[in-house]
Amino acid sequence: MSMDYLALDEELDPEEYVICEYTVKSDLDIKTAGVRIAEEESTGTWTHPTTLSDDIFQRYGAKVTEAKNDKVRIGYPVIDFSGDIGGIPQILSIIAGNLFGLDSLEGVRLVNLEMPSKLVKNYPGPRFGLEGLRTILNRPKKPLVGTIVKPKIGLPPKEFADYVYQAGKGGLTNSKDDETLVDQDFCPLEDRVNCVSEKLDLLQEEGHQMIHAHNISTNAHEILDAADIALENGARQLMVDVLTVGFPGLQALAEDPSVDVPIHVHRAMHGAITKNPDHGISMPVIAKLVRMAGGDALHTGTYGAGKMHADISEELFSKEVLLGEEHDLKKVMPVSSGGLHPGLVQELMDVSGKDVQIQAGGGVSGHPDGVMAGAKALTQAVDAVCSGIGLREYAKEHTELKKALDKWM
Ligand code: 3PG
Repeated sequence: MSMDYLALDEELDPEEYVICEYTVKSDLDIKTAGVRIAEEESTGTWTHPTTLSDDIFQRYGAKVTEAKNDKVRIGYPVIDFSGDIGGIPQILSIIAGNLFGLDSLEGVRLVNLEMPSKLVKNYPGPRFGLEGLRTILNRPKKPLVGTIVKPKIGLPPKEFADYVYQAGKGGLTNSKDDETLVDQDFCPLEDRVNCVSEKLDLLQEEGHQMIHAHNISTNAHEILDAADIALENGARQLMVDVLTVGFPGLQALAEDPSVDVPIHVHRAMHGAITKNPDHGISMPVIAKLVRMAGGDALHTGTYGAGKMHADISEELFSKEVLLGEEHDLKKVMPVSSGGLHPGLVQELMDVSGKDVQIQAGGGVSGHPDGVMAGAKALTQAVDAVCSGIGLREYAKEHTELKKALDKWM
């Protein structure tokens, strides 16, 4: 029996294969390029191993079922992912492993991933997800509105918590640590959580429900302890930088019964993986893995409205991945963040709709009248768009919004 990884036009049973789509840039013809990936990531290598039997090939060999233009579709037998240990690291080592370094392929991009339910059921998925966040915040329909405490680093715990309080008084539902803040000497996690929790309690007593995501991105052996410290001090939400920590850090939190708060997922470093259109892993694939691993909210972009590079079609696909049917997993709240300010809310919501968490750091703290005014301006912008009123029109009776528009538009 020939060991041909090409199985063009074969219908793969989606319950028996992990199916990946790649775009490839190479001097090789697309079929050969697909075979290079399939063999490298399953039973082959650069030469024929004498130890590779027909039986092993038939059982475990990947199949290239489409190879056209610059696209290949490859199915990896589900048994290649079997066993009680391995998880997302093992999935990635196969579908996004050595293939990226093959010299014969100038560029390869993993653009989509379809997982069989029998594998997905091993993952926790979001415990709260979009609906859970809406319930906690008693905000059933409108976007969640948040801020990132700025400056990213440097504020001591009391001033940090005061920022959160001001943001809450301005009407924001969410705030968060920035991705670079964890437990630095100038703002240790324990003190910070304590101070923020006091302010969130105060806001609650004053009639405003708000949560703050505390960044506990750290080493694998420390992350559950960091979660304990945060939770013991009243944290209402945790945050991880999923790509620097790794998916298992997120999954460990999502699976731990003591972590009874939502997990906000930041994607710091994603540009190294997602930005080159010819190479890397697309954000929607990362979003699928985050949903499996248990993220409740995930940064997916601002559809070109903010400061970060955007591939709009991929951002729309990420939105679909988080909000669409995905096995039985709860929906994940898409987070739009990075260079946003009140003047961009209409443009953003025209694409995002209302199922989104809109966040602004500079766009709140940079308001001419400070954080509370900035928070009010952002809240007003969201209220305006939700009521179908133009921002400039709404600003006529909302001075905070007017000042923000005058500064940034
Ligand atoms: C983030 O965490 O998304 C960024 O820190 C956003 O900050 P910015 O709103 O000031 O761009």
